[in-house]
Amino acid sequence: MHLVPNLFEIPLRTSSPVRSPTPDIVLKDVRDLLKDCALLRKLRSVDQDALIAQARLRKFDAGETIFSIGCHVNSMMAVLSGNVKISVSSPDGREVLLAILHPGEMFGEIALLDGKERSADARAMTPCELAVLDRRDVLAVLDSNPAAWKAFVEVLCARLRQTDQHLAEVALLPVPARLAMAVIRVNSEREIRNRAQFRVSQRELAELIGATRESVNKCLREWHRAGIVKVDDGFLAILDRAKLEAVAQQDW
Ligand code: CMP
Repeated sequence: MHLVPNLFEIPLRTSSPVRSPTPDIVLKDVRDLLKDCALLRKLRSVDQDALIAQARLRKFDAGETIFSIGCHVNSMMAVLSGNVKISVSSPDGREVLLAILHPGEMFGEIALLDGKERSADARAMTPCELAVLDRRDVLAVLDSNPAAWKAFVEVLCARLRQTDQHLAEVALLPVPARLAMAVIRVNSEREIRNRAQFRVSQRELAELIGATRESVNKCLREWHRAGIVKVDDGFLAILDRAKLEAVAQQDW
């Protein structure tokens, strides 16, 4: 498995002497979060407990690689805290940001299901903690509980829908409309998760919408001047949502 070594790791097994990985995430929270993630939510309690008992906890610093595209591994992950960036890079270093994942979301299910290599890079965007589930444990639960496949299929369908939407936006919309949509989306995710602030760089916004950092910077400066958004030390706040929505809808 291509996980960064020497990181904090404990099994969540109840028989183990269990420590909290950080002061802000306790084991009960870990279990509650895992039981609520898309994969486990619909499982019987006994199957949830079986999977959680086998999960390992791993911690990553901001910017650390969790795994790289093309590698063969036998696990999938659920985000417990922090944000994970899913992206694909070109050999010359350009990057397309496919998704920013939040606590409760899972990733690494594609290679787990088809047994092939990773389809994208996963990197810690902020310090984060992950629950790692081994392929054989997940497959054992799926084998004994066919209804659990539904949870996987729902996640895959949601990702396909997002990807279709993303492709359509990149092909059909000008940069300002794409950027307005991305800013609204990132902001709603932040509101849903009740986060006070979500820091997103202009480079990350550019990677998210398939544009250059310069074009993102130009738009944000114009919107800042027009009182639509406030850009302050890397933090972005929407000041006039109606106007931003109007930009997002143009030419669509
Ligand atoms: P896997 O291929 O195992 O490793 C990379 C992971 O990134 C993949 O599983 C998915 O969990 C996730 N992933 C790939 N493409 C997308 C996407 N378009 N949106 C969100 N997550 C994705």
